[in-house]
Amino acid sequence: MDNIRRPETMERITTPELAKVFIDEQVAAIRQQVGDGKVLLALSGGVDSSVVAALLIKAIGQNLVCVHVNHGLLRKGEPEQVIEVFRNQMDANLIYVDAADRFLDLLAGVTDPEQKRHIIGEEFINVFAEEARKLEGISFLAQGTIWPDILESEAGIKAHHNAGGLPADIAERFELVEPVRVLFKDEVRMVGRELGLPAGMVDRQPFPGPGLGVRCPGAITRDRLEAVRESDAILREEFAKAGLEGKVWQYFTVVPDFKSTGIKDGKRTFDWPCIIRAINTTDVMEVTVEHLPQELLDRLVNRILTEVPGINRVLYDYTPKPPATVEYE
Ligand code: XMP
Repeated sequence: MDNIRRPETMERITTPELAKVFIDEQVAAIRQQVGDGKVLLALSGGVDSSVVAALLIKAIGQNLVCVHVNHGLLRKGEPEQVIEVFRNQMDANLIYVDAADRFLDLLAGVTDPEQKRHIIGEEFINVFAEEARKLEGISFLAQGTIWPDILESEAGIKAHHNAGGLPADIAERFELVEPVRVLFKDEVRMVGRELGLPAGMVDRQPFPGPGLGVRCPGAITRDRLEAVRESDAILREEFAKAGLEGKVWQYFTVVPDFKSTGIKDGKRTFDWPCIIRAINTTDVMEVTVEHLPQELLDRLVNRILTEVPGINRVLYDYTPKPPATVEYE
């Protein structure tokens, strides 16, 4: 697969018909590559790995083994959605690993953002490698590598997440299967839609690998992480109700590690603030802030203050990029 390039002449997949042609070609190519062999896939529930899973399920059914690692930093409802869509609806062979405690124990007391990212990335590989070692008779590893990943690694911008991250004893066992390798992101989404994946999965906003961990700045604690998760769920629900889903590029909440004084039911409180961030961009290098309708802001403030334990103040981040990055860590 190493020599696969996006052909200069390849038509951009912009219609369901073109997506269908791509799917048929890839299903045939996968069957030819793997035959009766089994394929392993780390299924995060993100767009790329979900589309790869759906393609492989169509091509080889139960011979695909998906491993979904819950690192405890996923958004509310995400692991449940992965299980519902892939195990229950698509009848996939799915191993669900709840590793939340392992990650949160390792992260306890760690304040440095780079160290947090490192721990999360490394532990993810450890958990996945442990699962891979338990499985017998699998000789292929599928990955959701897409064309921009290859361009970026060639340009030296970032190493794309290939088997290089895995320990040698695991990486050497597998031949790679990368069926969306020649696609741009919008094409991956188009193919995902055609494969019948739910819109909420195919059109979802970008979500960092370290997940809610980077939205819980400083040392992650379970209670503050829960406040991030609950406020994020409220934000997504209210954006959807307001018809902004898919219209605003990215929106999320952050709960920083400081407390301020407030008052509730006549009593002093000392709780965290919840910061709302909603941004638009075309290239992620420069980002502008979305101007939210006043009624939506009012509703968000009201719901977050009444429904999320530990929050007594709601702030709206009005900073573009540059100078601020999108995420807080
Ligand atoms: P920054 O914070 O660098 O974010 O302005 C730009 C975009 O990248 C996303 N992001 C990540 N995506 N792994 C990812 O896959 C990561 O570690 C990561 N960190 C940031 C961020 O959400 C924003 O869309």
